[in-house]
Amino acid sequence: MKIDKYVFGGLKTKKEKKDLTEFFRHETTAEYGGYQMFDGTRTHLMHNPEELSDFIYFLKSYEKKKRKKIRNFLEIGFNSGKVNTVLNKFFNFEQIVAVDNFTADISSTDLMANLRRKNLTLICGNSDKKETLRIIKKFQPFDLIFVDANHEYMGTKKDLSNYCTMLSDHGILAVHDIHSLEYPGVNKAWNEFKLQNNFMFKEIVNKKYYFVCGVGLAIKKP
Ligand SMILES: C[S@@+](CC[C@H](N)C(=O)[O-])C[C@H]1O[C@@H](n2cnc3c(N)ncnc32)[C@H](O)[C@@H]1O
Repeated sequence: MKIDKYVFGGLKTKKEKKDLTEFFRHETTAEYGGYQMFDGTRTHLMHNPEELSDFIYFLKSYEKKKRKKIRNFLEIGFNSGKVNTVLNKFFNFEQIVAVDNFTADISSTDLMANLRRKNLTLICGNSDKKETLRIIKKFQPFDLIFVDANHEYMGTKKDLSNYCTMLSDHGILAVHDIHSLEYPGVNKAWNEFKLQNNFMFKEIVNKKYYFVCGVGLAIKKP
């Protein structure tokens, strides 16, 4: 497929979404539905290409529907910041806060590239630490929160309950890997979280490839 315009230029049409999915395929491995072999550089996206473009498309449509820009973004689990940069390209956030304890293998070159050209405050530490929460609270409320750090049941449960209180009105909390077979604890914590009635819920799931991820969305009712 030929992509005939700047892929981060906008995301209004189905054609633009298809082009973005195709672009993401080049940025990830076959296990996620991409065109790369795992090469150890850890520079690939850890996302299903369809799910990531559907997620961004949904957020863009939501902005339009609510006539409210997504300005303040919190990412729990920054890694080397690749998805952070992708999202920033579409939303040009006024403020980004991110946290990571840097226990995972990452590419330092990729990390350096993804720290640049954004208004980012990066906190190095565990997401459930009192001190981390104290610092992050100073930047609330957030229009978008992406939870993608500790993938165990208790860790995810804590992140969901700690951070959902930091959303703005109509804010969206997104959780990655809600259908991962490798991390069933995320699914359990997400299903429990969904029992609350102050949110509307949506799931973006594509189960075609070797790795199944899934993005859960909790949209705060005003
Ligand atoms: C799957 S990666 C995040 C990927 C990133 N959100 C993206 O979409 O490109 C998970 C990250 O969470 C971090 N992490 C794991 N447990 C954590 C914790 N308790 N607190 C903070 N970060 C944690 C790891 O170091 C790793 O970089």
